[in-house]
Amino acid sequence: MTALTLSSSDAATLRADVLVVGVAKGPDGPVPTSGSEAVAEAFDGGLATVLETLGATGAEGETTKLPVSGLKAPLVLAVGLGPVPGDGEEYDAEALRRAAGTAARTLNGTKKAGFALPLASAEAVAAVAEGALLGAYAFTAYKSDDAKAGKGAKKGAGKGPLGEVALLGAKALGKAAKTAVERAVALAEEMNRARDLVNTPPNDLYPESFAAVAAAAGKEHGVKVTVTDDKALLKGGFGGLTGVGQGAAHGPRLVKLSYTHPKAEKSLAYVGKGITYDSGGISLKPAGHNETMKCDMAGAAAVFAAVITAARLGLKVNVTGWLALAENMPSGTATRPGDVLRMYGGKTVEVLNTDAEGRLVLADAIVKASEEKPDAIVDVATLTGAMVVALGNRTFGVMGNDDAFRTALHELAEEAGEPAWPMPFPEELRKGLDSSVADMANVGGRMGGGMAAGVFLNEFVGEGITWAHLDIAGPAFNEAGPFGYTPKGATGSAIRTLVSLAERTAAGELG
Ligand code: BES
Ligand code: MN
Ligand code: ZN
Repeated sequence: MTALTLSSSDAATLRADVLVVGVAKGPDGPVPTSGSEAVAEAFDGGLATVLETLGATGAEGETTKLPVSGLKAPLVLAVGLGPVPGDGEEYDAEALRRAAGTAARTLNGTKKAGFALPLASAEAVAAVAEGALLGAYAFTAYKSDDAKAGKGAKKGAGKGPLGEVALLGAKALGKAAKTAVERAVALAEEMNRARDLVNTPPNDLYPESFAAVAAAAGKEHGVKVTVTDDKALLKGGFGGLTGVGQGAAHGPRLVKLSYTHPKAEKSLAYVGKGITYDSGGISLKPAGHNETMKCDMAGAAAVFAAVITAARLGLKVNVTGWLALAENMPSGTATRPGDVLRMYGGKTVEVLNTDAEGRLVLADAIVKASEEKPDAIVDVATLTGAMVVALGNRTFGVMGNDDAFRTALHELAEEAGEPAWPMPFPEELRKGLDSSVADMANVGGRMGGGMAAGVFLNEFVGEGITWAHLDIAGPAFNEAGPFGYTPKGATGSAIRTLVSLAERTAAGELG
C-alpha cells in the first residue's frame, strides 16, 4: 500500500513529484487554502488568479494541475474542497477526506506526493491520512503489467497506486497527530484489504480461500481464528449454510475470529454475509443482475476488516467476528424452491426463493453468535435489492431491535463518513413470512422487501440481546465512476462504522 510519512519539510523544501494544495470555493472565485503559502509565493501571490484562469472554482471533486518553478517539486495539484467554511470553523472532516482521496486517486502511477492541505487539528490530519490512503487504492492484481505482457498489453494497464504521501504540517500538531495517523494507516490497510477481497473474482475467492486469508491475518495480528468446514457444518446442524452452499463445487465455511482484551468490560459480535458468488441458485438471477455478484461477501469482508483493525488498535473490548461463507449456485445438488431447511438452533424455514440466501446463512451465524451472549450483535450484509431501491447506491439501511442502539449506529456511521439511514420494522411484515409447512418462509411479498429481510433475521437473535442489521447492498460496490476516496468496484462499506462502534464501546461511551 501507499506509504505515509509525517514530513518535517515544508512545501518549499520537500523533494517530490507533485505538491497537493487545497482550493476552496469563495464568493468571488477560487481561494487557495492554508498549507498552500509556499506554493502561492512561487506564483508571486498570483496563485488564485492562475487557478481561476485555468478554470478552477474550488468545487468539491475538482482537480487542476499546474507546473511550478522555484520549488523542489515540478508540479502542483490543486484539489477542490467546496465552500470556504464559516468564521472560526474548520474544514469538515469528510470534505478533507474526499479532497485527499480525489488527489491521491488522480495521482495513481506517481512516485511521491507532498500533501499541503489545511490541517488545523489532529482530526483533520486523520481525515487527510484516511482519504489519501483510501483514494490511492488500485486493484491491479489481474492486469498484465506492461513489461511482462509485452506487445499486446494496454499501456498503463497495471498502473499502481501513488507510492508515497508526505503529510506536510502535521508534525507541528504533535503526538495527537501521530496517533491519528497510526489509526488511519491500520484502518486504511484493512479497508483496502477488504476491497481486494471483494474485487477478487469468484473463481479465486470462494469460502475455503476466504477462510485461509482470514486465518493468516488472524495469526499475524493475534486474533484467534476457527474455521468450521462443510462436513462439520452439516454434522453440527447448520442448515442455512449447508442448504445455501450445497449446490456449489466449493463447500461453505463458518469462520470465527476472536479478538479479546484482558481488561475488556464489553463484548461485541459482528456477523457478516459472505456469499462469495450469488447466482441466485435454482431461482437463477437473469443476465444483467449477476455480473457484480462477487460483491455479495462484502459484509463478511467488512466484519473481517473491523475485527483485525480492533486488534491492531488494541481496543479494550472483546470483538468476535462471524463470517458466514457460501457460494450460491444452481445444480443437481442445490436447494430447490420448496425445500425446508432446519436452521442451527432448530427453527425450520421453507425456501420459496433460493435467491433470498443471505438471510439463511446469517440466521445460522446469528444463532451461533447469540450462544455467547455478547452485549450486542451487529450483522452486515448485501442483503436486498429493495434496500438499494429505497436508499440509493451510497446509503446503507440500519435496522434493529433497540431504537437507541439503532440511532447510535446511524450517528456513528454519519460521523465516520458513511451515509446511513434508519428503517423501521412495520408489524405486518412478520405475517408475510408465515409458511404453511415450516416455522417461516424465507420470503414474503415484494413490498418492504429490505425491511422484511430484517424482520426475518430478528427471529434468530437470542433473547434479550441488543441487535442491529446493516443492509449495505447499495454502497458496498460502486458500479459508477470513482468519487472522492471511493473507487469503482469494492468500497469497504460499513468498516468505519464497525470500528467506530468498537472504539466507543471500549471507551465506555455506549450502553
Ligand atoms: N445479494 C442479493 C442482494 C443484492 C442486490 C446485493 C443488489 C447487491 C446488489 C440478495 O441475495 C438477493 O438476491 N436478494 C433478493 C431477495 C428477494 C429474492 C426476496 C433481491 O433483492 O431481489
Ligand atoms: Mn440472492
Ligand atoms: Zn445475495
